[in-house]
Amino acid sequence: MRRGTRRRGQERRFARVFQCRYQRARAERSNMRRKLVAGNWKMNGGLAANARLLDRLAGEWTAAEPRVLAVCVPFPYLAQAQAALTGTTVRWGAQDVSEHAAGAYTGEVAAGMLMEFGCRYAIVGHSERRQLHGESDALVGAKARAAQSAGLIPIACVGETLDERQRNATAAVVSRQLAAVIDALGDHVRDAVVAYEPVWAIGTGRTAAPAEAQAVHAALRTQLASAGAEEVSILYGGSVKAANAATLFAMPDIDGALVGGASLDAGEFLAIGRA
Ligand code: 13P
Repeated sequence: MRRGTRRRGQERRFARVFQCRYQRARAERSNMRRKLVAGNWKMNGGLAANARLLDRLAGEWTAAEPRVLAVCVPFPYLAQAQAALTGTTVRWGAQDVSEHAAGAYTGEVAAGMLMEFGCRYAIVGHSERRQLHGESDALVGAKARAAQSAGLIPIACVGETLDERQRNATAAVVSRQLAAVIDALGDHVRDAVVAYEPVWAIGTGRTAAPAEAQAVHAALRTQLASAGAEEVSILYGGSVKAANAATLFAMPDIDGALVGGASLDAGEFLAIGRA
């Protein structure tokens, strides 16, 4: 056999082995993607209603469930969530966090304080905060960093408005929003969670079609991969219900959901967690 032919055979075998290893590593990384369903109660709840909801989640969500279930509650109810959920497999967190560690910031809540109440997660950059409280991409990045420095997992939200979608600006908007979070977290973006929430789908009963959501998730995944963070969980949010969750979760880059209204109903929320 000529030496050139033998070398080409070796190269092909090497390429096959390399490709197998690469595919296996990719599959393993995709298994590492945390399957998470997080409820965002927004500014809803009350001690009595919360107690009923939390007790049902605590009683019915078992260790054998296929996903992590979490609730992000208003600040005053964190102690209640901690008391009801400690020792269960349900996690809890906050809906926002200050970018500062402490100091003269009236009305703000620091990440270290959230840690004292056993929080695992803090949502940052929810569209309602971006729109109603003028939060910029840079501020959202700083909040994600503050959360992570204290030991929380930031759930960083991105999403386009209806107007932006109609102008075909979805990809540019979500990529700009994610870039600010990647910039702020650097390598540690690996330990964050991202939520894609198209603004036009929030609280409107209009969900993005699964394929439509998947296309955006895939673009976010590519952007994360180029920052060395392909394995970050990307949740979908916007009118997720028990009835539409399974078709969304069937998409290859949708790792779970950030659920608003439906997370206030224990039966609905548990069913989404199991969809
Ligand atoms: P809805 O599920 O009520 O549409 O809210 C989505 C959301 O904003 C979660 O953060």
